Amino acid sequence: MRIQKYIADAGICSRRKAEEMIVKGLVKVNGETLDELGYQMQENDVVEVDGQVIGAPEKKVYYMMYKPRGYVTTVKDQFDRPCVMDLIGDDIKERIYPAGRLDYHTEGLLILSNDGAFVNAITHPKHHIEKKYLAVINGKISEEDVEKLKRGVVIDGRKTAPAKVFLSEIFKDKCLVEVTISEGRNRQVRKMFEAVGHHVIELKRVQIGPIDLGSLKEGRIRKLNPNEVQALISLAEK
Ligand code: URA
Repeated sequence: MRIQKYIADAGICSRRKAEEMIVKGLVKVNGETLDELGYQMQENDVVEVDGQVIGAPEKKVYYMMYKPRGYVTTVKDQFDRPCVMDLIGDDIKERIYPAGRLDYHTEGLLILSNDGAFVNAITHPKHHIEKKYLAVINGKISEEDVEKLKRGVVIDGRKTAPAKVFLSEIFKDKCLVEVTISEGRNRQVRKMFEAVGHHVIELKRVQIGPIDLGSLKEGRIRKLNPNEVQALISLAEK
């Protein structure tokens, strides 16, 4: 691997910036200032950038988790509530973090990775990756309100993008609705139902693009296989 890629993969700066730093004499390998851009890294090389020794770049890894209710997706919580990072076992050494958020009370599919470009690609709103939720709401929703949700409702002063909404089951005093949205606004599904007069009792994300929660058990994490990672990347590149 070329040194500029090594520096970029370690998250220090872009390859181009790394080349500039080499030219300026700010990069040392094993204590010697580097004077060539094409240097190929050797095993056990120690690299210093601007006086700081940098760690070896981590292998890129990709996981999915079934987040339980009652966990936050932020890395640290101001109220010290349980955090999804607590569910990551010691066997995962890489510094993975969640791609996108789920509310404290929401359960379901979460994707985690240490690949910043991948996380940005699948969470950026411009890529419109669909996320499917199952919502248990109070009362029985009318056909009219289902249509309103499909067309878009105003939340936080702005209309939501068209959504797929399907009334799946009706119980005595509540019903189950499948909702697929391509935005990721704050508490979006809950606010959409509030906008048509219903309260979300339970919310579960079951799909992100082509990735389905499947039979993964609550609180568990598993590696995404290369096909699943590629399917997500292809979707973001569309
Ligand atoms: N919509 C919500 O209301 N909450 C979530 O966690 C995700 C989508």
